[in-house]
Amino acid sequence: MNKPKIEFPQKGMDGDDIISRLKELKANDASWRNGRMFGYVYHPGAREAKTIEQAYQLFFADNALNPSLFASLKTLENETVAMVASLLHATEDCAGNMTTGGSESILVAVKTARDWAKRHRPYIRDPEIIAPVTIHPAFSKSADMVGIHIRYASLNPDKRVNPTEVEKLINGNTIMITVSAPCYPYGVIDPVEEIATIALKYELLMHVDCCMGGLMLPFVEKLGYPVPPFDFRVRGVTSISADVHKYGYSSKGSSVTIYRTHELRKFQYFVFSDWPGGLYASPTMLGTRSGAPIAAAWTALKAIGMDGYLKMAAEVMTTTNKIQESIKAIPGFRVIGEPAMSVFAFTSDKHDIYLIGDELARNGWNLDKLQFPPALHMTISNLNCGHEDEFIAALKEAVAVIEGHKIKSASSHVVVYLARAFSRLLPDSWFRKLSSRFTSLMNKGDGKSSGTGAAAYGIMASINNRENVDEIMLDVLDKLYTV
Ligand SMILES: Cc1ncc(COP(=O)(O)O)c(C=O)c1O
Repeated sequence: MNKPKIEFPQKGMDGDDIISRLKELKANDASWRNGRMFGYVYHPGAREAKTIEQAYQLFFADNALNPSLFASLKTLENETVAMVASLLHATEDCAGNMTTGGSESILVAVKTARDWAKRHRPYIRDPEIIAPVTIHPAFSKSADMVGIHIRYASLNPDKRVNPTEVEKLINGNTIMITVSAPCYPYGVIDPVEEIATIALKYELLMHVDCCMGGLMLPFVEKLGYPVPPFDFRVRGVTSISADVHKYGYSSKGSSVTIYRTHELRKFQYFVFSDWPGGLYASPTMLGTRSGAPIAAAWTALKAIGMDGYLKMAAEVMTTTNKIQESIKAIPGFRVIGEPAMSVFAFTSDKHDIYLIGDELARNGWNLDKLQFPPALHMTISNLNCGHEDEFIAALKEAVAVIEGHKIKSASSHVVVYLARAFSRLLPDSWFRKLSSRFTSLMNKGDGKSSGTGAAAYGIMASINNRENVDEIMLDVLDKLYTV
């Protein structure tokens, strides 16, 4: 048997040495301070960040598992939920909890729906949720975990879910409809009011995923931008998730799920009274819960405040509009749909957009790639404000470079075409090659995209048999999380 590459440290290391090693590792990460990263880091500015970090450190060791021992955390959690709830026009009857992020907020909402149905629709054996195809994958993950099914509804040409399609999917097993405000891929808000009318008609639960928009849309609306009703003002909306670690500009690990009533929230809870270890009760997914992100979230809301959030939202929207206008001005380029805030995708009918993405990445601009249709994605936040001119120049430069490399672009198209043609017949060895190629790209470890992902991503997007793609992705994950 081979010895493992990494063994348990026999002796404690010197603190300074550890910190230098950490800094050495971190030096290879992509930089977010230069405004060239979109969506992974939300930073409110040095002054507020310092206070949020202090709060985080103050509660570093504290455990929200026991609210009577750590009563401060109970207060901080309840007040954080209440502050977000008031932003989303919740009434006094609403109730919620903090979770560690969007995915956990969605997981608890889906679990709540299942347990609500067990009580109120006991005859349903195979519960189902209806969601737009653009809904975040956390719903599919959660449905998988709690043993229910999702039926996906198609979109209108404006990329918002089609209410007629949603209604057609309702059957005797449906327990909840869910929509996004806005959805991650295109930043458009689904027709919340129309879907809520359907939910009320069939007496179903309705969840609005405001993980992205919960702490941005309210400010965008106050600034006078057109925002259709998306929150608890809409009768029929029964729960909302909103991330404080996104546009709330708090540390990672903070989100909320809010329900229209305490009665509904009770289905979120887990209690077990037969354990020899005592009476066990936990409100969300976790057992032990770090106090740090709870304190940080409360602090972010208090330190930034309505005036601070409005100021940041105004700047973010100005930057967003400027970037979108410049994209639309490039021949053959377009922004997809009509994004409601600062999350959007753009594509080109003239160029291979993945190659443009690679060219941008080569210059340090990291944009996510979307598929069906191929597009590049942007989440503009405070960190990107002031860098819009640099980005626009980089985009124009990338277009010029790609226009000068027609042959390279064509060869990438040929590879994708061949992949599509052979997608049902690809032998195992092909998959192994593809996944090891992906892994080596992702594992390069210099924090900079290699800028050679276009053909690889193009192949993935064009393989018709998605089970093959899933298999490649599992293999990639397995290799990534191996020393
Ligand atoms: C609309 C939407 N919902 C949910 C999530 C999941 O959030 P998290 O990554 O915090 O789990 C995201 C993440 O980007 C999102 O955009």
